[in-house]
Parts: sequence; structure tokens; C-alpha cells
Amino acid sequence: MTTAVLSIRGVGKRFGAVTALRDVNLEVRPGEIVALVGDNGAGKSTLMNIICGSSPADEGSVTVEGSSLDSLDAAKRLGVGVVYQDLALAPHLDLAENMFLGNEIRRGPMRVLDRSRMRVEAEGAIQKLGITTLKDVRLPVARLSGGQRQVLAVARAMNWARNLILLDEPTAALGPKQVGIVLDAIRTAAAQGLGVILVSHDIPKVLKLADRVVVLRHGTIAADRPPAGMTVSEVMSLMVGEDE
Ligand SMILES: Nc1ncnc2c1ncn2[C@@H]1O[C@H](COP(=O)(O)OP(=O)(O)O)[C@@H](O)[C@H]1O
Ligand SMILES: [Mg+2]
Repeated sequence: MTTAVLSIRGVGKRFGAVTALRDVNLEVRPGEIVALVGDNGAGKSTLMNIICGSSPADEGSVTVEGSSLDSLDAAKRLGVGVVYQDLALAPHLDLAENMFLGNEIRRGPMRVLDRSRMRVEAEGAIQKLGITTLKDVRLPVARLSGGQRQVLAVARAMNWARNLILLDEPTAALGPKQVGIVLDAIRTAAAQGLGVILVSHDIPKVLKLADRVVVLRHGTIAADRPPAGMTVSEVMSLMVGEDE
């Protein structure tokens, strides 16, 4: 069996009197697409925030390839790419500059932005993911459609991710065609060996896309299994707890 790229062991998290997560254990292997589903308040965002390093666990351990993932710096160093729900794009900057936001390429003694190199590399990264909807990397993001912005945020995360990519509702506000583009990009990333964790409320889509479905309920894992043979209503029951 392949070694896990991400290992979560005995993770717990409290907010005051609220136990958001309790004894969560989860492994993701390279190339695996894991869907994280659960009712509102189940702890999905809390778990994603722990895995992206923005809010460390109170107990337990999170490791990527054996190294502890306990801060945003560690997440960056360990090659964890994140697509945030609000996308975190800069509308006045162009596509290429957004691809390199926080990782800008500079040149010369004055360390000026190397826009032409960022454009060439951004084009390469977009091509590598098989994305054809982003044609001109010099276009300001303000000129893109909602779907194109979503695709760009996914492409950026995939470009920087070396081990793992996290997506929170990546297709929530999209039309069918753009959904297809985002899902294809996710499949491409997995095929290139990244582990993928995807939070989604779209259970039919999850059952088609994921290699494993992980159901969170009141902060604990209620199910962790391959989607083969699972029905939408079965997943819903696992989410709310009318077993089984
Ligand atoms: N920053 C916070 N402060 C206090 N309580 C929080 C905070 N974040 C999450 N919670 C609580 O933790 C539980 C899990 O929340 P969350 O992870 O956002 O669930 P989900 O994303 O599955 O809807 C909820 O009871 C929520 O109210
Ligand atoms: Mg949430």
C-alpha cells in the first residue's frame, strides 16, 4: 500500500464549550480524491483550517510526508495548496500576477517584478492542467466571469501544491460547463499524484468524483468508505445520523 501523503491522528478541537472535532483519524494517499461531507456545523471547515495550517489542533497530530503540519508556513513548505471559499484573488491584478500572488518572481538588483516570466510560467501552468477557458494571462481578474475566477483559483492552488490540495466548495456558484472544467482540473491534479480533499454539499457529484467519501457528524467521522454502491440518501442519512 502506498504511504499516506497526509496523516491525521487523534485530532481534537474545541471552541470554548463547543467540541468541534473529536478523535479524528484520516489518511490521504497520493492521487486520491477524498470528499469531506457533513451537515452544517459538523466540523468540515474546522478540519480544513487545521489541515491548511491556519488553526492548529488542540490535540492529536497532522503530518505531511512525516513532517508536522501545524502552521501556515509549514503548510506552504510541505506543498499544501488551498482554494479558499472566497477565492482570495486580487481583482485589479492580471491572471499571471494572481497565479504568483505571494510568490512573485523578481529580477535584477532592484528586485522588480518579472512580469514576462510570470506570464510565461502562468501560461505553462494553465496548459499543464488542460484548462482552456483562461486564454489571456494579461487580463485583469476583474474582467473574468465567476466561473473563470474559480478555475483560476484552482489552477493557482494546483500550481503550488506538491503534496496535497484542499478545496472548500469549489463548484458551489458555477454553471454546468464551468463545473465540468473545475472537476477536470481536480482529476488532472490527482492523476499527477496530488492528494485532494474536497468539501462539497453536492452529494451526487461527490459520489462520481471521489475515491473515498468521509462523513463528518458532530465532529467525529461517521463513515469513511469508497463511493461504490453508496446512494445519495445513504450519505444523507449518515450525515444526519438516521443510521443505517
Ligand atoms: N471560530 C469559532 N469560534 C467558535 N465556534 C466555532 C468557530 N468555528 C467553528 N465553531 C463551531 O464549531 C462547530 C463546527 O463548525 P464548522 O467547522 O464551521 O462546521 P461546518 O464547516 O461543517 O459547517 C460548530 O458548532 C461551530 O459553531
Ligand atoms: Mg463550513
